[in-house]
Amino acid sequence: RSYEYLLTSKPKPGVGQVTLNRPKALNALCTPLITELNHALREFNSADDVSVIIVTGSEKAFAAGADIKEMAPLTFSEAYTKSFIESWSSLTTQVKKPILAAVSGHALGGGCELAMMCDILYCTEAANFGQPEIKLGTIPGAGGSQRLTRAIGKSKAMELILTGKSFSGADAEKWGLAAKAFPSYEALMEGVTKTAETIAGYSKVAIIGAKEVVNKSQDLGLRDGVEYERRVFHSIFGSQDQKIGMKAFAEKRKAEWTHQ
Ligand code: HXC
Repeated sequence: RSYEYLLTSKPKPGVGQVTLNRPKALNALCTPLITELNHALREFNSADDVSVIIVTGSEKAFAAGADIKEMAPLTFSEAYTKSFIESWSSLTTQVKKPILAAVSGHALGGGCELAMMCDILYCTEAANFGQPEIKLGTIPGAGGSQRLTRAIGKSKAMELILTGKSFSGADAEKWGLAAKAFPSYEALMEGVTKTAETIAGYSKVAIIGAKEVVNKSQDLGLRDGVEYERRVFHSIFGSQDQKIGMKAFAEKRKAEWTHQ
């Protein structure tokens, strides 16, 4: 299907890509865009020929935030009764396959939050991150206060959220928010595609299991988290690919995954 605010593609075997495409508004995340994004992610999540998903924007903007013009007139009762922004969480609750964010240009407010919802964050050194909501008389509403704080620590997150100051992709990498910052947009897109291809070369069962257990570390205490990991680890002995992978190692050849 074709979308109004997105482009979708399959740049490599096993890799699905969603490109936010609302250039006139620097990819501001209006509700219809989020609805389309959820749809596209659900499609890739259930596609047999996709193991990994890339979410990206343009060179100029990953996303400049939630749509300020859409939010401006919203009342408390509308926001509360219609659970404004809740649908954004589908990305973290409904997609089992890893999502790689490739961020170039602006990733502000909801744009920064969207990037942080993804499983691996890559960016350009010059990317422009920030949670500027305070300047609009509001606060982050799509997990920014929680995910930024977990990623870079309380004091720095507090400083950024209270001042609304932006930070660069180079800083994001230095502080551990981004896994890697690349010197150019081209290098970013090449790098993210390469990582996606590497991951897509493994067993889908193991990929999904690995994502699940790493994400549990964000919700559970250490003891519960380690126990959870062990349960999932045990269950993977029920997969064909665990037998295939270990047998291939012993026989010094490349594993041919069945994804079963
Ligand atoms: C709606 C937006 C927008 C946004 C940009 N535009 N950001 N529209 N919502 N978040 C629109 C502009 O109105 C303008 O439309 C067009 O995109 C180009 O933007 P310019 O400002 O002309 O571009 P530039 O001068 O290059 O400045 C880029 C910018 C600036 C620094 C990114 O646009 C900006 O500050 N944007 C807002 C960033 C922000 O505050 N984000 C947080 C939003 S709150 P026209 O029609 O005039 O050409 C948020 C809350 C999250 O995200 C909580 C829950 C999710």
